[in-house]
Amino acid sequence: MRIVGTGSVLPEKVVTNDMLAEFLDTSDEWITTRTGVKSRHVISYEKLEDMAIDAANKALTDAGMKAEDLDFIICSNVVNEYITPQLSCIIQGGIGATCPCIDINCACAGFIYALEIAESFYQAGKVRNVLIVCAEEPTRMTDWSDRRTCVLFGDGAGAAVLAPGDNIKSIKLSSSSATDKLWQCRMLQPTPYITKEEKDVPLQMKGQDVFKFAVKAAGKDITRVLEETGRKPEEVDHYLLHQANIRIINAIQDYLGQPAEKFPVNVHDHGNSSSSCCPILLDECHRSGRFKKGDLIAMSAFGAGFVSGAVLFEW
Ligand code: UT7
Repeated sequence: MRIVGTGSVLPEKVVTNDMLAEFLDTSDEWITTRTGVKSRHVISYEKLEDMAIDAANKALTDAGMKAEDLDFIICSNVVNEYITPQLSCIIQGGIGATCPCIDINCACAGFIYALEIAESFYQAGKVRNVLIVCAEEPTRMTDWSDRRTCVLFGDGAGAAVLAPGDNIKSIKLSSSSATDKLWQCRMLQPTPYITKEEKDVPLQMKGQDVFKFAVKAAGKDITRVLEETGRKPEEVDHYLLHQANIRIINAIQDYLGQPAEKFPVNVHDHGNSSSSCCPILLDECHRSGRFKKGDLIAMSAFGAGFVSGAVLFEW
């Protein structure tokens, strides 16, 4: 398969570090030096499903394709207002598609997992055109009085349309259960029979453990896709990494020994929008004219689970 169209949407409200410092014991200096984030887009009046539909429509327009041409929709989402129906069904109706669709929750690595699922469908000969939409509102997961988490995140939706081709050179996924490092749980409806203890807990994170995992996993995943295709790090034109923290991006860059110009970033004004990071960055690079036909792109992401993955593809 190959990527033939991209789209992205960000919420209108921009929250700067100084705005956070008005109600949190934090500072622009701390957030900037520890994370690289200066501001983030935060949902206020928008509905996540509308942003997802807009991003999907932009990607379809970019691909010159109609919703009725789609054979499958994969939506990556960690949380949204609906427990059911699945977000992909809402997107399907919103864009006017009729094909089957599924949601996946692979945290921040969702776009890479979605690509791997799509690739399997292509290899099985089941699809011609596939839409991937990543739509996330992590700012609704954090406790906004917890300076360790809420300063990191922003919201957004990113989409990509896939068509037949052989531009995907390799995808590698990995998962390793570490459920106390990055987690959140919510209460379900009570019943007359529940006897177990249940709790509603906002996003919890052991930041340094996640940091170490991220650098190690991304380095390993990218090395695996390079080795499988017999490529060297210097042959890659662009490294599109999950935008969680500029220090994580810099550490992966050091590990690969590649120049900073190959690592486009938007973490400074987007923050971490979970699985939406990768397709939003892809869309921004594409629309700014950064990619040339035939450029080699390595993309990598990691997230809660832990899960991680990398993909090597030609533009
Ligand atoms: O998609 C995956 C999602 N998560 C990640 O990728 C997160 C990965 N981890 C990280 O990015 C970093 O670990 C953080 C940015 C979360 C934290 O940076 P750190 O350099 O690991 O800082 P730390 O957790 O060791 O905290 C250092 C100090 C602590 O104070 P004490 O205990 O040394 O007195 C924190 O309480 O900084 C304090 N701190 C803050 N200070 C001001 C933590 N958050 C803040 C804050 N403002 N927002």
